[in-house]
Amino acid sequence: MEAVEALKAKINRLKKEKNAVVMAHYYVRPEIQDVADRIGDSLALARIAAELDEPVIVICGVNFMGETAKILCPDKTVLLPDPAAGCSLADSCPAADFAEFIAEHPGHTVISYVNTSAEVKALSDVLVTSSNARKIVDSFPADEKIIFGPDRNLGGYINAETGRNMVLWDGACHVHEQFSVEKIAELKREHPGALVLAHPECKKPVLMLADKVGSTAALLQFAIEAPAGSEFIVATESGILHEMQKKCKDKKFYPAPPMAGGCACNDCSFMKLNTLQKLADCLENLSPEVTVDPQVAEKALAPIRRMLELS
Ligand code: 13P
Ligand code: SF4
Repeated sequence: MEAVEALKAKINRLKKEKNAVVMAHYYVRPEIQDVADRIGDSLALARIAAELDEPVIVICGVNFMGETAKILCPDKTVLLPDPAAGCSLADSCPAADFAEFIAEHPGHTVISYVNTSAEVKALSDVLVTSSNARKIVDSFPADEKIIFGPDRNLGGYINAETGRNMVLWDGACHVHEQFSVEKIAELKREHPGALVLAHPECKKPVLMLADKVGSTAALLQFAIEAPAGSEFIVATESGILHEMQKKCKDKKFYPAPPMAGGCACNDCSFMKLNTLQKLADCLENLSPEVTVDPQVAEKALAPIRRMLELS
């Protein structure tokens, strides 16, 4: 195992040599965020991928993010440092079962969260991320019959906010479902002035006590715009605290504790599979490459493009 600084230097050299852009989601390890050319939430990563000129894109995130980039840029080499970086939410929605669900609800528009496999995207009319979900749902008439999948918490939140009755797929993220109202309340007693920031993948009771519900980028922006000295309890994957602390040196951030005290369940184990060593190896070998069946990719491209147009 090479030392951290040597690895970072190697990554920077390889990026130039291979004409590659490294993109990282806010949930990956801080040292990877620091070496990335671009960091962002799922929407930002998709948007940036669609506009890049470089022939090689490395996605330090999870598989569905790599697939989205590959679908948008089929002629580029898209790399994922560890192909085992999946997503429990995407896994909670197998494409064959989702196809049956759609068939059981004829006449419904299918809106899917980007945290899905390419096959599920191909079954969808439009995709959303947590940044644009509300806006895209709002773009449909109030009486539109809609299937929303796969995140029941995000779907339920939008139903509650809009008064809609979208039919929800029963899926969830194992990290965001771990946050406990009781533990957040305990933390709030220790820091009474702290505002609670929550990702919409959290369960309803957590969302109900949040001062701000939003995507990782929206929560970060909220913290940046808050007055100096503000304090926050953050109910999303703990990786976001790195960028929050970097951008808000005069503010304090406390990670919301998960239900089981002492566990690291507010870490996404898939995101944490990305390491500097794997990033360096993948740049050096231009592998592992993300591939998507071209027929699936063709069908999935239209709903991804529609999302980018609507957001
Ligand atoms: P964002 O849309 O905030 O990037 O969320 C992605 C994600 O995986 C949340 O768990
Ligand atoms: Fe998937 Fe949850 Fe990890 Fe996000 S935090 S990538 S939804 S498992």
